[in-house]
Amino acid sequence: MNSYLIAPSILTADFGRLANQIEAADAAGPLVWHLDVMDGHFVPPLSFGTEIIKAVSELTDNLVEVHAMVAHPTEHFDDFVEAGASRLIFHYEAAMEAPNLGGPGLGETILRARETGSEVGIAINPGTNIAEIEELLPEIQQVTVMLIRPGWGGQQMNPELLDKVTELRELSTKLNLSLNIEVDGGVKPDNAKLCIDAGANILVAGSAVFNHDSTPQENLNKLRKFVT
Ligand code: DX5
Ligand code: ZN
Repeated sequence: MNSYLIAPSILTADFGRLANQIEAADAAGPLVWHLDVMDGHFVPPLSFGTEIIKAVSELTDNLVEVHAMVAHPTEHFDDFVEAGASRLIFHYEAAMEAPNLGGPGLGETILRARETGSEVGIAINPGTNIAEIEELLPEIQQVTVMLIRPGWGGQQMNPELLDKVTELRELSTKLNLSLNIEVDGGVKPDNAKLCIDAGANILVAGSAVFNHDSTPQENLNKLRKFVT
């Protein structure tokens, strides 16, 4: 893999000036919009839903992915895609728990995501090992490796979790897949290269892009120095 993308997460953006922030980031070059939907169950906080996905999708020509930190992901897939998402990322842990909550299991969750015509990604929490999703890799386009406990922006990454990224990249090569491997949580200019050297090709960046220090363009340029 030799092309890398930053995926800004808007969790710490100024929502009162959202259009302005999206346009400013888009003007700085190609990227993936990473929209973190939280339901207050799978993770304690609530974030936003389809209205924001729609607003961002209408403002950008870049790919929009939804990181669904929700207990019942399949219930929302159609709405996310209708709102403009073209990559659905659900949590392995939510899909495994879903049958206990009256929902479908993991295989069916992948199928339902696929049926929307969207790309499919599986996110794994810090406690989940690659062996648990290995068999499913040929069925999906992306794995999102959480480097933090999901639910909040602005946390520090655990660099030991990058070993999972390396393991995944080796598997992707061995199985002849061109898997996107995304890292999520605590990505900053000073650790971006570490993520890429480990094998990631998409770097989610929330507070490194949307903060009070500089503009989104300047922050994206700082990150890109390490990833192009
Ligand atoms: C947290 C989200 C992340 C978060 C990243 O649960 O999945 O996408 O917004 O924010 P930073 O880059 O600040 O860790
Ligand atoms: Zn995320």
